[in-house]
Amino acid sequence: MGKYVIKGGNKLNGEIIVGGAKNSVLPIIASTVLNKGITILKNVPMLLDTMVAIDILRHLGATIDIGKNTLVINTKTIYKTCVDEELSNKMRSSVIFLGSLLSRFREGTIYLPGGCNLGSRPIDFHLNAFEKMNMKVDYPKDYNCIKIDAKNSKPTDITLPLASVGATQNIILASVLTKGTTVIKNSAKEPEIVDLVSFLREMGACIDGEGTDTIKVTGVEHLKNVVEYTIMPDRIEAGTFLFMGALCGGDIKVNNICSMHLQSTLYILEKMGVDLLVNNNEIHLKSSKRLNPVEYVETNPYPNFPTDLQPQLVTSLLLSRGTSVVKENMFEARNIYINELVKLGANVDGDNKTFIVTGVDGLHGTKLFAKDLRGGASLIQAGLVACGETIVENAKYIKRGYEKIDKKLSLLGADIKYVKS
Ligand code: EPU
Repeated sequence: MGKYVIKGGNKLNGEIIVGGAKNSVLPIIASTVLNKGITILKNVPMLLDTMVAIDILRHLGATIDIGKNTLVINTKTIYKTCVDEELSNKMRSSVIFLGSLLSRFREGTIYLPGGCNLGSRPIDFHLNAFEKMNMKVDYPKDYNCIKIDAKNSKPTDITLPLASVGATQNIILASVLTKGTTVIKNSAKEPEIVDLVSFLREMGACIDGEGTDTIKVTGVEHLKNVVEYTIMPDRIEAGTFLFMGALCGGDIKVNNICSMHLQSTLYILEKMGVDLLVNNNEIHLKSSKRLNPVEYVETNPYPNFPTDLQPQLVTSLLLSRGTSVVKENMFEARNIYINELVKLGANVDGDNKTFIVTGVDGLHGTKLFAKDLRGGASLIQAGLVACGETIVENAKYIKRGYEKIDKKLSLLGADIKYVKS
């Protein structure tokens, strides 16, 4: 288990290139199960979670060649319909393999998915939707394992209780090869859903309404056997670097992004007093003074402010000129990084959902423990401005979602090293 060692105090200056989106590539890798052929994926972020998705495919029987940010996946040879228990437990997105298996093989088995510890993360919306599609959902081993028979699956109208990203993806995938039209109401509108649908359309699927709250999937009989697709840029990685730049001060250009996906973040950064020059594919940020506090920000589904940037926003406010209130609405345990920030001298109060952040004059480095991906990234961010040395243990959480974060920050002038232990 490695760690990051950071010496704080350097301003960030220069250009960085954002990689492909983690939350796009994972469902897209899962959806390659649908066709019986070759998929070439480009701009693939080489993350720990990407490797788990690759291992799941291999375990199902696929062959995969890994190049530099490129995957060549052959799913013709898939013969298993059960996602391995250990791999299911490693990552939340393992559940998305179900939709593809149900579409192609009319059956699928999964063990309860793991992922970052963000509180209880049920999959009831996914399973209720499958049942509504006339599939038989069994829980043979005390709910640890879920076995689904989709031999008699039928299209239907499904209204999601919450606009869940994962449930929307799973229902789309389960419907791609199901004869008739499945309608998903209150579907998630995240850009990662739009990217998945663009990929599926490239594969030959018939889908309408992505990016709105009603998606219609009309089942097709066959999909193309060769597909090539480039994963969209990671809006959360981009936002993480922008919040880091805002906090550290300096002048950075964040390249290879889609600024449209970052509107709610840019709105808040402007209120915090940074200078922004925004083009379609790059954002230039200059931050030269102590940041303004923000009165109130809450996380909500896209296009609102994303939960995946909440810890980075809170951390940006640690040295601000006043008091801000940030509320987390999506995940109950997305506060587990706060106690670590307090060890640096941060002033953050509130309960597990509402964070009252009062800017202090400085932070002092110490040893911290990452406990989840985004919270972990925010500990690195705080270390960049803390006096002296900050050690962020449990780098494995951060490596789940950020490719070479230490190298990218070093290019901007930060003093950060990854140390294997
Ligand atoms: N929910 C249920 N039942 C379900 C599904 C979801 O109660 O069956 C609840 C969740 O507990 C949560 C809310 O609905 O409170 C929204 O969850 P959603 O299903 O939208 O989240 P997800 O699909 O599990 C994806 C991303 C998360 C991101 C959320 C929200 C991936 C692999 N993960 O998770 O990303 O926070 O959408 O945008 O796409 C991250 O990258 O750090 C991360 C956690």
